[in-house]
Amino acid sequence: MKITKICCIGAGYVGGPTMAVIAQKCPHIQVTVVDLNSERIAAWNDDDVNNIPIYEPGLSAVVQEARGRNLFFSTDVEKAIDEAQVIFISVNTPTKTYGKGKGMAADLKYIELCARQIAKVAKDNKIVVEKSTLPVRTAEAIKSILDNTGNGVQFQILSNPEFLAEGTAVSDLMHPDRILIGGDTTEEGQKAIQALVDVYANWVQPENILTTNVWSSELSKLTANAFLAQRISSINALSELCEKTGADVNEVAKAIGMDSRIGSKFLKASVGFGGSCFQKDILNLVYIAKSYGLNEVADYWEQVIIMNDHQKRRFSNRIVQTLYNTVADKKIAFLGWAFKKDTNDTRESAAIYVANDLINEEANIVVYDPKVALKKILSDLDYLETREAVSNAKHITSFPDAYSTCENAHAIAILTEWDEFKTYDWQKIYDSMQKPAFIFDGRNILDGEKLKEIGFIYQAIGS
Ligand code: NAD
Ligand code: UGA
Repeated sequence: MKITKICCIGAGYVGGPTMAVIAQKCPHIQVTVVDLNSERIAAWNDDDVNNIPIYEPGLSAVVQEARGRNLFFSTDVEKAIDEAQVIFISVNTPTKTYGKGKGMAADLKYIELCARQIAKVAKDNKIVVEKSTLPVRTAEAIKSILDNTGNGVQFQILSNPEFLAEGTAVSDLMHPDRILIGGDTTEEGQKAIQALVDVYANWVQPENILTTNVWSSELSKLTANAFLAQRISSINALSELCEKTGADVNEVAKAIGMDSRIGSKFLKASVGFGGSCFQKDILNLVYIAKSYGLNEVADYWEQVIIMNDHQKRRFSNRIVQTLYNTVADKKIAFLGWAFKKDTNDTRESAAIYVANDLINEEANIVVYDPKVALKKILSDLDYLETREAVSNAKHITSFPDAYSTCENAHAIAILTEWDEFKTYDWQKIYDSMQKPAFIFDGRNILDGEKLKEIGFIYQAIGS
């Protein structure tokens, strides 16, 4: 089967960039991305391509090239489903906030809605692709909904998880380490797999396209994230030991990472990992293990999350302790709010939790992030439901530049590793601050020796 029309449900951080790259690389395929959120779709269609809702280096150029040619953004979900041969489901799968599995299991209500809508609309055979990250065996549930509520047409379900990281989404999509496609072992299943392989083969080398059974594919996505997050929790656990022993975590990471069996990537000690996926996917893995009665397996992976929570709390405690055990009414400048550099995404950012702890201690926080505005910062804090929104608004604000943010501050905390932070005139910042002037570098990005020469009291993670 030759694919000429693709629909993607969900125009978020995955659906938007992924489909933009497919459209750019496959001009012969019409790609329509649909979403219920009309504001988001309007932003994707904004005449000024710089106003698209997701900030990713290189993304606006890709959208500019393909949009209107063979890439379309729309709220007309039914039409796009009806026309497509392949439907990607790329909706959000957050941790459940209610009922059975609350705080652990993935909330699959958006996935189920998509399946029901596809079943209702489809009048000819379709390939349905799980692009969202899903618990292992979700394809079974999707198939059951499609087969039992559909119009008697045939559906093939494929699992094609996405491995892009935010901040590098476009280059990850253009040069993926691998494309993973899982499907049925039947002849029809293999045909569906081949149809999707042919789409990716437009720009990905065949040896980088891996096909598996559907359960291996679903489970590999959850475990890939668990392994990545585990490395960060491992190095962060060592950072605390380094602080006690005089070892330096950057040196330790370099030394162990040079062993090719260990590898050097993802060993950067930090204030803790954030983002929309690591925590939710590991919690989901823990929940799945528990549901099979595998308590040791569940405990093993849960420790990655426990360590990450500890690392965030340890950072805020250290600020309070160093500032003479009180931050009440002190001005603390936050540089960075996004969960990592080069993205405007703030979901589960460590900054939110550090700010929450410091506000509990009555600190006044001023934030500067190159891509995040005050409205988002306030809604992130309000989402924790620790205190009234008015109280959050009293304790946190933001300025549009770093210099005014740091003026008169007692301390600066680096929460995101934005490159521009390294280029600042730190003498000028020091001169404008309260003394002694403290810097807590939650990302180990600044030159501590230089800052100490200027007069700062500089504290990094793990040294
Ligand atoms: P997102 O919240 O940015 O986007 C999801 C979109 O789906 C939203 O715009 C929402 O309005 C829309 N949506 C929800 N239900 C819908 C429905 N029934 N019909 C139409 N639209 C609907 O989420 P995301 O970050 O793009 O993540 C999507 C999935 O991809 C998740 O399962 C996530 O785990 C996975 N994933 C995310 C990343 C990442 O870096 N963000 C990377 C790999 C995989
Ligand atoms: C992560 C994975 O890297 C992607 O492969 C995966 O597709 C995605 O999750 C997903 O499923 O959503 P992402 O969360 O976008 O991507 O970004 P990462 O680069 O993995 O960073 C996650 C967090 O870990 C960030 O807060 C980052 O600052 C932190 N981190 C990362 C560290 O603290 N140290 C490191 O060495 C690396």
